[in-house]
Order: sequence, then C-alpha cells, then structure tokens
Amino acid sequence: MEGQRTPEILDYRNENGHGWSFYKNDGVLRTIATTPEDDMEMIRKVQKFEFRDDDVVIVAYAKCGTHWLWEIVTMLRAGHSEYNKKTKRVAMLGPGKIEEVDELPSPRVLNSHLNFRHLPQKMVEKRIKTIFIMRNPKDVSVSTYFMLNGVNNIKYSFEGTCSEYLDLFLEGKAFGGSYADYVKDWLQVKQDHPDLPVLTLFYENLKKDPVKNIKTVADFIGLSVSDELCEQIAEACSFKKMRTADAELKEQVFNVSDFWKKGQQVVYRKGEIGDWKNWITVSENERFDDVIERAFEGTGIVFKYD
Ligand code: A3P
Repeated sequence: MEGQRTPEILDYRNENGHGWSFYKNDGVLRTIATTPEDDMEMIRKVQKFEFRDDDVVIVAYAKCGTHWLWEIVTMLRAGHSEYNKKTKRVAMLGPGKIEEVDELPSPRVLNSHLNFRHLPQKMVEKRIKTIFIMRNPKDVSVSTYFMLNGVNNIKYSFEGTCSEYLDLFLEGKAFGGSYADYVKDWLQVKQDHPDLPVLTLFYENLKKDPVKNIKTVADFIGLSVSDELCEQIAEACSFKKMRTADAELKEQVFNVSDFWKKGQQVVYRKGEIGDWKNWITVSENERFDDVIERAFEGTGIVFKYD
C-alpha cells in the first residue's frame, strides 16, 4: 500500500452526488464499496491464495463476457456441453469466500476482475494459464451502467442517468476504475512476463465466430477437442441458452431477488455488439472516440463497435 497506513480517500462523485469514492492500492485505483481496509484485506487474502499447476484463470474488467467465457472453459475442461450447476462466482478471486475457492476440485476455472499485481504472486512462477478478455469500451460502459443501476445495494448502485455514468466512465471514475488502465495493465504484464501464458480474446470475436474462438481456447489450455464438441459448446453457451440456464438451473450463491432491484437480473441483459448505439448520443459518441483514441494510443488494440 505504498507505505501508507490510512489511504487518501478520493471522492469522485459527480455534482449530483452520484458515483463512488476510491483509494489507491499499489497505484491501482480501487472503488471503495465498504472501507479501504476491507478492500486491502480482501486483496491480501487473494494474494495468499495457492494456485495449482492446472488452474486456468479468466481475467477481465467487469462486463466483458466473464460469465460466458467461464461457462465455455468449464465445459471444455469437462469434455461435454452440459451446464455446470455452479456459477463463476464460486471460483472468483476477489470479494467472496476465498477458502471455498481453495477447496474447489481440480481442474479449476478461476476468474477475477483484479489487476495482476493484486493476484497471487506465484502466478508467473507457476505459469498459470491466463485468458484475458476485452470488449469495446462503449458496450462495456453501457453494460456496466445497467448492472449498477439495477443493483439493490447502496454501496454499489448508481442512481444517476446513463449520461452521468458515461461521464464518470470516460474520466476513469466509474465503479471498477479506469477501463483503459485495466487493459493497459494486462498488456504491460504480457510484455514484462513473457513466461506467463496469456491468451487475449475479444468479446466481439467470440460473438461473431464462437466455434473458432472456442477452438483457440481449447488449444491454449492444451485440450484436443473435436469440432463437434466446439459447436455443441457454442450452442449451449449462446446468450439465450445461458440466460435460461442461469434462471432455471444454476445454484445462486446469494439471494438473487434481493440483490437486484424489483427482482430484476441484469447479468444476462442483451448480449449484443453495438447496443451502445441505443444509449450513447452523437455528441457523447464523439467524445468517446476522442477519449478512447488517446487512452489506447500505441497499444495496437482495435475495438469492434458493431
Ligand atoms: P450486456 O449487458 O451488454 O448484455 P460479465 O460476465 O463479464 O459480467 O459480462 C456481462 C455481459 O456479457 C453482459 O452484456 C451479458 O449479457 C453478456 N453475456 C453473458 N453471456 C453471454 C453470451 N452467452 N453471449 C453473449 N453475451 C453474453
């Protein structure tokens, strides 16, 4: 924690009081959902987590398709296209019961929204297979807005308008911090740690050609799978089927109807590329393009927006 005992609190709420406070942990802007101390303690616990050699970890900024990819990798490792009764939450390196993640049977498909420097140190030494998924920032911002606006919990929820949220997002002050910083951090990790096997995927590519991407994932994790299985998994993990499975057969780790406003569940909301066009105005879009171009300059990343 940069030698600080009591971190500086950065209040990034907007003029209407909508938004969150933050603190910096090892240079990373962290949203304060409860207290900085709780967050620091959560990170300390995660850092002590022991990887097993055959773990696979999915890393992503929230709303980039983590649930989707978790289901795909879980099916690939199980060798069939039946749904696991559990959700990705049980295998999350983050808030939650890390002791229970530790007890999951191998092979584990872990997932996290944390930055690399907050994950267990042995990740590189053990060469843990890591899959990093990104999504175009316009759809990420809209998806995040609807999730936070639908949450029935004052510490997380965002009661402002979509436009207010987009402003915070572009300033890097949205829940989860700056999307560009998160992505660039992982790109840097890839450069700094060439021994860490990292597969980079894009939500849009997975959506446009799921079978090809599923095969790429299988190759990366060292599985020899038939085209037929990849097709079956792509079908079982289509948006509509996953939404139905989530509602009908998944064991939820918390009371879903309490967590979301009016019993709404907005993880499986639209599942499309380009929904941002329904929410981002022409002038906001110009601003987005400008900010995104500057933020991702030199990274070589080309996002797909439709
Ligand atoms: P939308 O809000 O745009 O619908 P995460 O799992 O990282 O939280 O990401 C959630 C986003 O991924 C949501 O986006 C959700 O609908 C979308 N998603 C979940 N499952 C999907 C699937 N099978 N196909 C396409 N998109 C999916």
